[in-house]
Amino acid sequence: MTSQEDPTFPFARPKAAEPPAEFATLRSTCPISRVKLWDNSEPWLVVKHDEVCNVLTDTRLSKERQCPGYPEMTPGGKAAAKNRPTFVDMDAPDHMRQRNMVARFFTQEYVNSLKPFITETVNSHLDSLVKKGCEKPVNLVEHFSLPIPSLVIYHILGIPVEDISYLTEMNAVRTNGSSTAAVAQDANRDLLDYLTKLVDKRATDLKEDLISALIAEQLTPGHIDKLDVVQVAFLLLVAGNATMVNMINLGVVTLLEHPSQLEGLRKDPSLAAPFVEELCRYHTASSFATRRVAKVDITLKGQIIKAGEGIIASNQSANRDADVFPDPDIFNLHRKTDSVKNLAFGFGDHRCIAEALARAELEAVFESLFQKLPNLRLAIDYDEIKYSAPHKDVGIVELPVIW
Ligand code: HEM
Repeated sequence: MTSQEDPTFPFARPKAAEPPAEFATLRSTCPISRVKLWDNSEPWLVVKHDEVCNVLTDTRLSKERQCPGYPEMTPGGKAAAKNRPTFVDMDAPDHMRQRNMVARFFTQEYVNSLKPFITETVNSHLDSLVKKGCEKPVNLVEHFSLPIPSLVIYHILGIPVEDISYLTEMNAVRTNGSSTAAVAQDANRDLLDYLTKLVDKRATDLKEDLISALIAEQLTPGHIDKLDVVQVAFLLLVAGNATMVNMINLGVVTLLEHPSQLEGLRKDPSLAAPFVEELCRYHTASSFATRRVAKVDITLKGQIIKAGEGIIASNQSANRDADVFPDPDIFNLHRKTDSVKNLAFGFGDHRCIAEALARAELEAVFESLFQKLPNLRLAIDYDEIKYSAPHKDVGIVELPVIW
């Protein structure tokens, strides 16, 4: 293909939460193709499940954003690449060294120990919704989907209870799709300033939380410095937050759109785990993180990719690959998916560090939501739902409901 023909990426969703139609076409016609980004760069787009997995485990490819050719999705991304990198943007061995400093707070065992807190947080929010009643429609985002994941990560980080309302306000500004870039950037700066002060204060009073663990790493010569502590804490505070909010909202709408599956879940809350598995596959709401750049020339399915060329490995497309998921466009919570093959959380070394946590939160939400609010329904028509912009990650920005 010549560059003039390269389609512009990201592709747009045709409507609501439907993935871009271009992915299905490319899977059957051209699994490795060039696309054009906002800055006229032309990375490769990889759309088949097997090749996406190959890209995400190929050590000849880099996730370092400063590497020339790394595909940036927005001008803001280019600016972010100049910041001090955290493990998200590092390659081996530095990547694992820094990731391991916080990994124990995200193991299945640690997440299991958090489950009572998660369930209590979900249930107390649902109980207050029940108590509050719904004479007028209630925005589920504000009163449920946004606070739950924020409160859980604050707990892990060790944010003092008295600071939670301030942080929640800042986080709402960051994730609210209608904030301007400048306002969102100010909120980021405020959060970083806040964390810097907290790290200083906590240094004299170490506890059992994640920030204290990072400060302790800082005390080991050659490990990390104070700026790293603040950057990693900030990363964990904000990474995945918007995705979690979107997954809760998308889960509610998806269940309402599939009443017999909703009925099954209502009767048997243990179906929450397979429901969450399918929800994450079907919507794949974090679909731009899996980008890489070639460090040397490589060949992928016969296609030469030169050193310095970027690659977007589309986990969103891979999760709709019929070679791996029969009838991929059908939402079916009874599908027996191998979690490792579900690429919603990525694949390989950079696979989401918080996967177990995210699953536990979503499971707690969908075990209880329709139990506590059995008549929960939309207060608007389906075609009035405010989805994220069509070329952005799929999400729902506002969800008026009644029950
Ligand atoms: C349903 C919710 C979530 C989804 C779908 C999701 C998805 C992803 C994906 C696709 C990646 C892979 C990036 C790559 O291969 O380069 C990733 C990485 C990551 N996620 Fe999540 N995520 C979620 C929730 C969270 C939460 C709640 C947090 C923080 C508490 C988080 C923190 C991270 C971090 C730090 C990484 C980087 C891991 C690394 O580079 O080693 N995620 N996530």
